[in-house]
Amino acid sequence: MEILRAEKLEKIYEDNGVPVHAVRGIDLKINKGDYTVIAGPSGSGKTTLLNLLGALDKPTSGKIFFENEDITTKTKSELSQIRLNKLGFIFQAYNLIPVLTALENIEFSMMLLNIPEKERKEKALNLMDELGIKELANKRPNEMSGGQQQRVAVTRAIVNNPSIVLADEPTANLDSETAGNLLSLMEKMNSDKNITFIFSSHDQQVIERAKKLIILKDGKIQN
Ligand SMILES: Nc1ncnc2c1ncn2[C@@H]1O[C@H](COP(=O)(O)OP(=O)(O)OP(=O)(O)O)[C@@H](O)[C@H]1O
Ligand SMILES: [Mg+2]
Repeated sequence: MEILRAEKLEKIYEDNGVPVHAVRGIDLKINKGDYTVIAGPSGSGKTTLLNLLGALDKPTSGKIFFENEDITTKTKSELSQIRLNKLGFIFQAYNLIPVLTALENIEFSMMLLNIPEKERKEKALNLMDELGIKELANKRPNEMSGGQQQRVAVTRAIVNNPSIVLADEPTANLDSETAGNLLSLMEKMNSDKNITFIFSSHDQQVIERAKKLIILKDGKIQN
């Protein structure tokens, strides 16, 4: 079942009055349960494309249909509601909130959605248990390793059962063994819960384990 579709997507940034054509006419389709990696050299447009697909930025032209609705015409606040309710994000630099514990970080989006405290704690702790990180519940980001922080970030991204999880170079700051464990975790979430993942990466390990691969070059799809 189709969940996300991009048509003739273009993104042109302005850099001191100079146009930078970062995404040049991309068409793609993502189905429910897909596990897709966007690869390509530095500057090829991976982050730009992911930000467009994740409703973090608007295309200069073209359309994006998410669950059959055109999201390119939506307002900023409508887009933030879609992100909060339907999407999960994992970033290269983990982006956990430093003053919150692991548990509180995982609870955070549910708090914004007004889910009662007891329910959100239970949901967060159950998933932490399932992913083997329950013992990190009371630790703050500066008390955790990079791999541990990224596992917390993955838990945070999937705790609300999002339709899609988007991850920009999720393994970039991890050693290859820790990255491999993190990939296994995401593959398990993909097969057990049918969560749809879209990553960008230039990590060979991530690319080899992709179920679908999109290769970008100069803002266009190569394959
Ligand atoms: N905010 C911005 N303003 C102007 N130009 C930008 C901006 N963000 C990205 N670019 C340019 O757009 C192009 C694509 O950048 P993007 O960050 O999407 O590439 P990338 O494939 O993610 O690269 P990397 O692998 O280094 O992360 C590059 O030429 C970049 O310099
Ligand atoms: Mg990038």
